[in-house]
Amino acid sequence: MIALGIESTAHTFGVGIVKKNGRILANVKRTYKAKGLIPRELFDHHCRVAPETVKEALEKAGISFDDVDIVAFSQGPGIGNALIVGASVARLISLKYNIPLTAVNHCLAHIEIGKKLTKCRDPVIVYASGANTQIIGYENGKYRIYGETLDIGLGNLLDMFGRALGMEFPAGPVLSKLYYKANKYVELPYTVKGMDLAFSGLYTAAVNKIKTTDKNDLIFSLLHNAFAMLVEVTERALSHSNKKSLLLAGGVCCSKPLQEMFRQMCKERKIRLCVPPNDVLVDNGAMIAYTGFLRRPIPVEKSVIKPKQRLDEI
Ligand code: FE2
Repeated sequence: MIALGIESTAHTFGVGIVKKNGRILANVKRTYKAKGLIPRELFDHHCRVAPETVKEALEKAGISFDDVDIVAFSQGPGIGNALIVGASVARLISLKYNIPLTAVNHCLAHIEIGKKLTKCRDPVIVYASGANTQIIGYENGKYRIYGETLDIGLGNLLDMFGRALGMEFPAGPVLSKLYYKANKYVELPYTVKGMDLAFSGLYTAAVNKIKTTDKNDLIFSLLHNAFAMLVEVTERALSHSNKKSLLLAGGVCCSKPLQEMFRQMCKERKIRLCVPPNDVLVDNGAMIAYTGFLRRPIPVEKSVIKPKQRLDEI
């Protein structure tokens, strides 16, 4: 059994081809890079790259449409203009080649491929990407969101702060390198509210200090506070849920300093830390393809996109 999955929730248009046992045959992507995100331009970008991305994935996997048993697309959450492209391409393939269509929640896909590739069982999950920051666990037949950001996602914080420093998108990888170049900590807000987090006050305070503070010290302090906040609520979720493993998901979890902080906390609590490879931490088509196997096929008429879909609705 082979699934072809299409990811298009935000900047990335990705096509993955995966076997039911989780073997990834191809995972190809094109990423829209611009200083500001204009939905119409994002739509144009995804439309432009869609045909070549699908073609390249099929070539890499060494298969044709005739070999595909399921076509899956990310249904949400995401930017409507981006989601519609992936959904349309998936519907077209489904109708033209008579292949069953499945709709996949983007967050669920990060979790399921991560669990599969790291052999992680019943973890607490930290999902941190541009728009999302959630601490999740499976209980009584569904995923529950234990805590989440009340304003912007952790990745958006990093990108917005990077932009204020004149950096290109995505700023996270550069900031994570400069984290190690600091000499001292600068006082910045630390905003944990119960199991939830807020990052916009931290952003504003850091931006206000750009002119008067050493750049690397400020980067270190912003990242340190934001990451420590996330580690704190995650530790509390582990404690309350009594789960013994932690799975990282989402592009922000590629950050080395963030992984180090999680590793230290997990070591102290004797928790197994499961870190999937970077190419499935970031947005990708392979995770959509794999999760396509776990969902029931739907008729094309019902394959609507859901930009605000939440994991705990599924
Ligand atoms: Fe994502």
